[in-house]
Amino acid sequence: MKHLIDLIDLSQEEIESLFTLAAKLKKELNAGIMHHLLKGKTLGMIFSKSSTRTRVSFEVGMYQLGGYAIFLSSSDIQLGRGETIHDTAKVLSHYVNGVMIRTFKHSDVLDLAKYGTIPIINGLTDLMHPCQVLSDLFTVYEKKGKLKGLKLAYVGDGNNVANSLLQGCAITGMDISVASPRGYECDGTIIEQARYAAKKSGSKVVLTEDPEEAMKDADVVYTDTWISMGQEAEKNIRIKVFMPYQVNEKLFSLAKEDAMFLHCLPAYRGYEVTEDIIDGPNSSVFEEAENRLHVQKAVMVTLMANNPV
Ligand code: CP
Ligand code: NVA
Repeated sequence: MKHLIDLIDLSQEEIESLFTLAAKLKKELNAGIMHHLLKGKTLGMIFSKSSTRTRVSFEVGMYQLGGYAIFLSSSDIQLGRGETIHDTAKVLSHYVNGVMIRTFKHSDVLDLAKYGTIPIINGLTDLMHPCQVLSDLFTVYEKKGKLKGLKLAYVGDGNNVANSLLQGCAITGMDISVASPRGYECDGTIIEQARYAAKKSGSKVVLTEDPEEAMKDADVVYTDTWISMGQEAEKNIRIKVFMPYQVNEKLFSLAKEDAMFLHCLPAYRGYEVTEDIIDGPNSSVFEEAENRLHVQKAVMVTLMANNPV
């Protein structure tokens, strides 16, 4: 593993070893044991979009690992005034030991990796959110003790989170059903990649317009905002289109009785999910958010430590 840009680059074994390391780091942190595995290392964090979880979990993660993180808002650095990704990548490669970037165009992340010489971590693009989905699958694994053979139902916008879920589930052997309205489906290339990966892992990939079909017998129910960052102008039309995809008591009752509810957050109660579900007994959204920290620490150690454990 040289970068974490796109989950399709990872094997099932690589994901498993990230989870083993994340579990160890989490357990030891809770026992008060610190590992300064990134002592002397610096992470640059470029943000062209807002963030609570990603920013704080990466920054705290670096601190806990004995390293340092620099927050680089794209409106403050020269990238925001037109300096090229090419030059930014070359310059940053001489200062920091890794870059985490949250931006719009996925190709910008690929270019950072192409022109730089340091590990690049995708902290969300319009196309994907791999760090999120690694943490989601880790949370499922913690609760259910396995991934293979489980079914995840994603109901809502076929967005960056849904795209990464398709890949992550297919690689790890989880069945996934995505229900989205016509015109708001997942990315076509990613669907093909997921189908190919699912053949290898023995899982099923189902795309449908019918939220009830997707929810049937699901072990994990997932949704995300209907209005991702950058889509604010489409708010009114999106609310109308997505209302039948709201995860509420009626829809959730079609999943298995012990189904867990996940959401990457931030959540908009009353839109993609009702309060009784996200704040109810089946919801694991805050454990999921906590796990961003542990899983990303495992990612950073794997990519940046001199002697990964
Ligand atoms: N889930 C997630 O990435 O949250 P932030 O936008 O707050 O980083
Ligand atoms: N799909 C959302 C995820 C936020 C973490 C967005 O891109 O805004």
